[in-house]
Amino acid sequence: MASTGTTSTTGGGHEWWRTAVIYQVYPRSFADANGDGVGDLPGITAHLPELQNLGVDAVWLSPFMTSPQRDAGYDVADYCDVDPLFGTLDDFDRMLEAAHGLGLRVIIDLVPNHTSSDHVWFKDALASSDGSPERGHYWFRDGKGENGDEPPNNWESVFGGPAWTRVTNPDGTPGQWYLHLFDTSQPDLNWTDPWVWEQFRGILRFWLDRGVDGFRIDVAHGMVKADGLPDATPDEAAGSMGGAGGALALEPEISDEPPSLPYWGQEGGHEIFRDWHKVLAEYDGDRALCGEAWVDPPAKLARYVRPDEMQQTFNFSYLETPWQAPALRTVIADSLAAFNGVGAPSTWVLSNHDVVRHATRLGVSGDNPQGHGLGPKSNVTVDAVTGLRRARAATTVMLALPGSAYLFQGEELGLPEVIDLPDSARQDPTWFRTDGERYGRDGCRVPIPWTAAGPSFGFNDTGASWLPQPAIWALLARDAEELDPDSTLALYKLLLAEREGRGLGAGELEWLKGFGDDVVAFRNGGVTVVANLGEASIALPDGEVVVSSEPLTGTDLPTDTAVWLLG
Ligand code: GLC
Repeated sequence: MASTGTTSTTGGGHEWWRTAVIYQVYPRSFADANGDGVGDLPGITAHLPELQNLGVDAVWLSPFMTSPQRDAGYDVADYCDVDPLFGTLDDFDRMLEAAHGLGLRVIIDLVPNHTSSDHVWFKDALASSDGSPERGHYWFRDGKGENGDEPPNNWESVFGGPAWTRVTNPDGTPGQWYLHLFDTSQPDLNWTDPWVWEQFRGILRFWLDRGVDGFRIDVAHGMVKADGLPDATPDEAAGSMGGAGGALALEPEISDEPPSLPYWGQEGGHEIFRDWHKVLAEYDGDRALCGEAWVDPPAKLARYVRPDEMQQTFNFSYLETPWQAPALRTVIADSLAAFNGVGAPSTWVLSNHDVVRHATRLGVSGDNPQGHGLGPKSNVTVDAVTGLRRARAATTVMLALPGSAYLFQGEELGLPEVIDLPDSARQDPTWFRTDGERYGRDGCRVPIPWTAAGPSFGFNDTGASWLPQPAIWALLARDAEELDPDSTLALYKLLLAEREGRGLGAGELEWLKGFGDDVVAFRNGGVTVVANLGEASIALPDGEVVVSSEPLTGTDLPTDTAVWLLG
């Protein structure tokens, strides 16, 4: 085997976020202390020891702030309070203290692209006249056409349907339109308004003062819109709403300059992150911003993590890479090159609350665009056994890469997407706004199993669950997997311990050649990582096997299997 060059991704410093494995807690579905069927902050606090025991460095909490929950909390009505569904600010403080006591960092979700329509800012805007400062906090515009009854432009909502809704004036006459890139209940804020900037500085400080270690920035690539809100050209609109990559329209499919869609990846957004960088720098202890920016290619994405902007950004190009060795090698190399170029760590992610869980996704044949979800009538074939096998191998590769990695709750148990949710249980606005054409994201959000026995598999002790849990949860429950040395949980624990012990997060990647096109092979921190994505077995390379994604027999490395070797 020959080696070709080395690539480090951790940059110069030793800040925690350069190498951290960060576990995404989706509060609604993690653990439910009060038994109402929706997870809560006391539930999280109670289960933090399991996360410490798993071996992660930090947790990211999806939104738990005051919200009418029309988009599962990504519709915030008060940025500085906890929704009673999840507990109280005191519960948050207790959770944070407990996490820090266990050595776990905590980052929280900030949703600055839009508020809930229940937010007092929006209510004030509705109650104010056209052209008022209150309306100026959002995007209110007169409609087109003779009576203003056509939307101001042709933008479409990520969740389906038009991105504009018309309001009714106090006297009952039809009024202006407001922009919402997501649900009607999520009006977009106008980031050309200095007042909005000031509010968010205050919100950041509110949580930084409480001691959070950072923020995940929702829809970071959408906050700034092109001047004049121009129409998207027909080609662009089709690409963003219908194409494989852009199905949720979260992905801009931008590969040229300037950005092709007038609401994604606009240059002006970077000014906001520079401002926030300065706010975080006022605080001690190495606080961090991680952007949710669906921007491609990695070279463009890396602009969000230049030294005076955010610290991290999600690497969705990695998540979307098909299970093919050449594609995987390319995205890893491109990511390391791009992020190294700006002195930032690359991040890696395979699952989150918006995509089909990778234990299922990697076993799906047929088209399954991001955000469409899967349901009983989806036109795809799902091979669950292959999916899980590939998922275990994919994670074995990911956790060997230098930089920081994100895990989504339940992937450490090998949870699949729940495909057969009854229509009546579905809650994702995507499902409603597309009249059931797209299933949306509920299938990855089902409350996770802690115990094989007991009501709701230990999610709570009442049996209530906001989405129904499948019977297979009994086999995949944490307590069952704790007893099984070959479980996915055991694999994750071993990977995380070895990654930590060998300092792989801060390591340098050295490509290994000579294994053939269907193999991904590299060295990092003294570990040789070999993943066989081909259809045939290959010879297991020499060396002591430290981790294998599947139990090995003989001297072969079977298909869809990855190993870490020493020597
Ligand atoms: C982000 C969130 C997603 C949410 C959307 C609107 O993409 O991850 O869950 O629906 O923003 O806030």
